[in-house]
Amino acid sequence: MSIEVENISVQFGGVHALKDISVRVDPGRIVTVIGPNGSGKSTLFNSITGLVAVDQGTVCIDGQNLARVPAWQRIGRGLARTFQTPRFDPRVCVEDAVLCGFYPVSRAGILGAMLRLPVVARQERAFSAACDRILDDFGLDGLRHASLGELPMGMVRLVEVARAIANKPRYLLLDEPAAGLTRAEQQLLSSEIRRIAASGVGVLLVEHNFAMVRSLSDHTVVLDRGALLAQGHPEELMRDPAFVAAYLGSSTPGLSGAQPSIGTTL
Ligand SMILES: Nc1ncnc2c1ncn2[C@@H]1O[C@H](COP(=O)(O)OP(=O)(O)O)[C@@H](O)[C@H]1O
Ligand SMILES: [Mg+2]
Repeated sequence: MSIEVENISVQFGGVHALKDISVRVDPGRIVTVIGPNGSGKSTLFNSITGLVAVDQGTVCIDGQNLARVPAWQRIGRGLARTFQTPRFDPRVCVEDAVLCGFYPVSRAGILGAMLRLPVVARQERAFSAACDRILDDFGLDGLRHASLGELPMGMVRLVEVARAIANKPRYLLLDEPAAGLTRAEQQLLSSEIRRIAASGVGVLLVEHNFAMVRSLSDHTVVLDRGALLAQGHPEELMRDPAFVAAYLGSSTPGLSGAQPSIGTTL
């Protein structure tokens, strides 16, 4: 049981977005992917979710090769993701955005929904109760009727994470979910991510804030121009001079005060 990405390469014209990259995400673990802009982090997510076809290598979920499984069917294999740039209609309210996350698992079919069969009403009540719990967990309860267009981007990202977990995924891929969040929102998001992982979900997270990476990660993969620069537990990486020099800046008297060299923050 795991996501196993093995030796994948992806090329866009002359750009090698990923070169021979392997990553494994086990249930209940938090794996982070870090690296400067353009290093291939989102392409890795797109390769797993099927939005990008890999040129070489394999992506397996729970032992099954996804090569012939289209993106829309991968949701049924227990995958959920958020996008680096959230894709929402600004007129949709928070509650409806989160409710949308339930419908990929709806068993009610279009005809059943049109005929308002009892099974549909029961399912909608269950979705609504689960949605209430998620809104409460994420501190979004007071905003349930706010339209997404009115909210700061940080809050929209939280809504996207809330929508992604509605479907009870076994694996959750979060692409820079903390970008633009206030410190309090980041802490809320971190504790949600921990709680989601503790419930057995495997989490793959792209994050620039190294303090958050350190506090959350079981394992960190460092990409640089599509290639693997280093990997390990964040504390191990902090003891690796090559990583520190390349990622955090070499003129660091003590890492807690390190000035990041490529756009990360401690
Ligand atoms: N759909 C695409 N078409 C062409 N080039 C792409 C596409 N997606 C990503 N790239 C290129 O691949 C490289 C890696 O991009 P990306 O995975 O978005 O990096 P990151 O998420 O680490 O910032 C970049 O050079 C980017 O311009
Ligand atoms: Mg990206």
